[in-house]
Amino acid sequence: MSIISRRIKSIKLSPSAAARAIVAELREQGRQIIDLTVGEPDFATPRHICEAGIAAILRGETKYPNSQGVAGLRRAVSGQFKERYGVEYPIGRIIVSTGAKQVIYNALAATLDEGDEVIIPVPYWVSYPDMVKVNGGVPVTVPCDASEDYKLTPAKLEAAITPKTKWLLMNSPSNPTGALYSREHLASLAEVLRRHPHVWLMTDDIYGSLNFTGGPTWHPLQVDPSLVDRCLVVNGVSKTYAMTGWRIGYGAGPEELIKAMATLQSQSTSGASSIGQAAALEALTGPQDCVAEFTQAYKARRDEAVSLLSDIPGLRVVMPEGAFYAFPDCSGLIGKTTPAGQILNSSTDLTHYLLREAAVAVLDGEAYGSAGTFRVSFAASMDDIRNGCGKIREACARLQ
Ligand SMILES: Cc1ncc(COP(=O)(O)O)c(C=O)c1O
Repeated sequence: MSIISRRIKSIKLSPSAAARAIVAELREQGRQIIDLTVGEPDFATPRHICEAGIAAILRGETKYPNSQGVAGLRRAVSGQFKERYGVEYPIGRIIVSTGAKQVIYNALAATLDEGDEVIIPVPYWVSYPDMVKVNGGVPVTVPCDASEDYKLTPAKLEAAITPKTKWLLMNSPSNPTGALYSREHLASLAEVLRRHPHVWLMTDDIYGSLNFTGGPTWHPLQVDPSLVDRCLVVNGVSKTYAMTGWRIGYGAGPEELIKAMATLQSQSTSGASSIGQAAALEALTGPQDCVAEFTQAYKARRDEAVSLLSDIPGLRVVMPEGAFYAFPDCSGLIGKTTPAGQILNSSTDLTHYLLREAAVAVLDGEAYGSAGTFRVSFAASMDDIRNGCGKIREACARLQ
């Protein structure tokens, strides 16, 4: 008899963590791998932010912080959300957690009863369905086509809603597709939500600052402020400020929800690291030049990666408008034969072939609910992007 619970047995190790382990193992064996799986900025955390963390340690901010988040950081988040979404959140309606990931987890744990449904557009971030499942919910995954730029349409949303729907979970710009919803598109989704007042909206805005269009990143609350009473806004410093290891994320929503999430957090982690919170406060309130610098660098890399990948026969790439991933459709290569005589039956086979033959690691689209695709991260150096895409091209050319 295993000691492991049914709930934990229903989920798996995050595929990005699994990929990290495989790349590390191959490198230990002496193989030179170009790693295009990485889901985090390759930049260092800017110096002024690191110094704020160090100063907090030296000031003695090393005790348990307020478990819902230190007031100063919650005030800064309130200011940022007022500026971005036009909503005034008092700090009682804001929670700071150990990454945006924990904000999402807390929200699902605080709201899902057995069998409650969460609508998740596909391709999705790998963790959403498992976070729903482990909390007793049912992920209702809704396939969104490349021909629709991988975006949820109002008709598909309408069709997915049932009396058991608790949440619609949105992520714009998206991991893994880089899809960014326009104001008009969000308005059409909001119209559907208005017809179904029992459905709550969770927006994972973690890539919101990484927008390459030159235009604004629209949020549903800007389009329809009436959703504020059933909306949880999730954000954090990981991607915007290259702070993944500091583990600070935050959320804002109706008081009853935030209170429940804070209660859970007080009984689980006792809150996010005090040092991480001091650094995050500096990130939000200090100089912002790094955000523009990072975004410009990602944009140049995106242009290079998309142009190289689009040139490979058998791949089709939708231009990512934000985040730092390209998501080629590789269905044109499925069914081809490798030089060793193996037939590639799936994107899983193709990504294994690329790792073996080209020594390039990319993530299989199946992890994102989307067979026949793979994800290429361009949070990598320009050299790695050029060499990696070049090797993918050569390996694909050897397929018959
Ligand atoms: C869509 C999405 N949401 C949330 C997260 C997690 O962010 P954090 O580091 O703040 O937990 C990630 C990280 O990969 C992500 O891609």
